[in-house]
Amino acid sequence: MPVTTVIFDAYGTLFDVAAAARIAAAEPGREAFAAKWPQIAADWRAKQLQYTWLRATSGTHCDFWQVTQDGLDYALEAAGLASPELRERLLALYWQLSAFPEVPAMLAALKEAGMNTGILSNGSPDMLSGAVKSAGIGDMLDAVLSVESLGVFKPHPSVYALVDQHFSTAPDQVLFVSSNGWDAAYAVRHGFHTVWVNRAGEPMDRLPSAPQHQMDDLTGIPDLAAAL
Ligand code: LAC
Repeated sequence: MPVTTVIFDAYGTLFDVAAAARIAAAEPGREAFAAKWPQIAADWRAKQLQYTWLRATSGTHCDFWQVTQDGLDYALEAAGLASPELRERLLALYWQLSAFPEVPAMLAALKEAGMNTGILSNGSPDMLSGAVKSAGIGDMLDAVLSVESLGVFKPHPSVYALVDQHFSTAPDQVLFVSSNGWDAAYAVRHGFHTVWVNRAGEPMDRLPSAPQHQMDDLTGIPDLAAAL
């Protein structure tokens, strides 16, 4: 069946997760943080995701805001830069992440082509609504679906099924787009057409399935959705 619905992961895919640390590093008086921010941002993201997987497999769910704070606390301590003021600033910036530059035009093209569009994310509903609002893309999204309605993180199979339930679509009518290779890999197992947006040119994760498509950014998504 032709693709009718294009679903995006949020953090790292539509929203630039490194932006919080990058913006803070450019602020006056943050020289120590500026010297280490790329490593701190990478540790923050890695720990945030590891904690989602550990909480999902152990049945100790909490929301994504909690693992976001826990990941940051780990990363700041690992860098020797734990400070309540810096922590609060970085967390505040995480609520206002910018979208990648090509996002508004890409979503507008999908809507013009008559596609349904949505987000499927680990993010809690309030975090997602903050990010969607600050990026100014709410008008171009038909749904913002959060794992919080299930209480388990990606890649639990029930998460991908939220899309089928919400849009009354079969999996092969959906193009799923994620910058997280593991998320894209497990979306394939659900039966979605899947694109891995691999901005950094990373190797493919070694998992039981692999995404059918890879792109450097989101510009080509409307053409791909129309062709499927
Ligand atoms: C999300 C994380 C995985 O938005 O980026 O679900």
